[in-house]
Amino acid sequence: MTGDSNVNFTVLHRTCKLVVLLCLLHISVTLVFYLRSFDIRLAFVQNQQSHKPKDLTTSKILKDVELTEQDSVQPRKVSGVVDVANVSEEIKILGNCPETSPLLVGPLRIEFSTPVNLDMVRNENPNVKTGGRFKPSNCIALQKVAIIIPFRNREEHLKFWLYYLHPILQRQQLDYGVYVINQDDNEVFNRAKLLNVGYAEALKEYDYGCFIFSDVDLIPMDDRNTYKCFSQPRHLSVSMDKFGFRLPYNQYFGGVSSMSKEQYLKINGFPNNYWGWGGEDDDIYNRLNIKGMSISRPSGPIGKCRMIRHERDAKNDPNPQRFDRIAHTRDTMQVDGINSLSYKVVRVEKEQLYTKISVDLGKPSQ
Ligand code: BGC
Repeated sequence: MTGDSNVNFTVLHRTCKLVVLLCLLHISVTLVFYLRSFDIRLAFVQNQQSHKPKDLTTSKILKDVELTEQDSVQPRKVSGVVDVANVSEEIKILGNCPETSPLLVGPLRIEFSTPVNLDMVRNENPNVKTGGRFKPSNCIALQKVAIIIPFRNREEHLKFWLYYLHPILQRQQLDYGVYVINQDDNEVFNRAKLLNVGYAEALKEYDYGCFIFSDVDLIPMDDRNTYKCFSQPRHLSVSMDKFGFRLPYNQYFGGVSSMSKEQYLKINGFPNNYWGWGGEDDDIYNRLNIKGMSISRPSGPIGKCRMIRHERDAKNDPNPQRFDRIAHTRDTMQVDGINSLSYKVVRVEKEQLYTKISVDLGKPSQ
């Protein structure tokens, strides 16, 4: 009898221990799931607060998503993106930026009498990140734009450009980067080749779909002149003060222009053999014309811009060969362009407001 009750007691004891263990296991699993869902709810609430745009309600953002413009390139079809890469840290619900930015102010006062202090420009543009990169935080930019500036010894002009352009480009709600391509050799200046280098170097960094080619001394006088790409190559500096606020001639394509990657590749990029001042922009115009493209332009008033006055640069005298070269674009454009580009990168400097790429362009080929 005593033996039997001992056996019964041991079985009962073991069963009880098992039940208690199962209960503990159940409680711990429930606790883990409860804590995880609490964490996600908390992150979502915080995110809703920090990402709520100051001036746009959620319904405005969703409405903006439906807006598209016929002639702008790369419209994104995404109606909203939920980034769940790290759910507990960040839940983003962003719509596309509107076709026309609500932040634009129109005509601007541009003057060059007071020198610019770059510390001040950095402080005034805290959202511009290293290398001169920016993208809007409350909507997805419609275009990824690389701004290419051919450069040599124009530090003061660059300061004005950064001072005026960074606020404008941010108001235009672009995902952009600024690339200053510095000709760091002893040869005659070669603007178009520097632009080709800028195209190639910018694409090594980011998936840009649009390229703005801008002289360093040209500042737009109206922020509605958006630095983006259109269904046709765009000439942006259409009414320069230097030319009495009008086009010097209908085929003029100098100063500031934009091209999508596709448009640029269709013309094999720009010529590499225009050394010295003049002609390269006419050659680019010829290329576009030969490939059946037309030039899109903003209206005269919106396309107004100011040029910073300066003496002619050393090693940039007018190129005597330019007339002959322009006459032969049709023959040369297949073999001279982005497909024949060669150069050496000497230095890459990441400043807060821009990326400076110093290059050796080599020597003229005859
Ligand atoms: C040159 C261009 C220049 C234009 C306006 C033309 O003669 O070939 O390169 O942009 O004049 O100055």
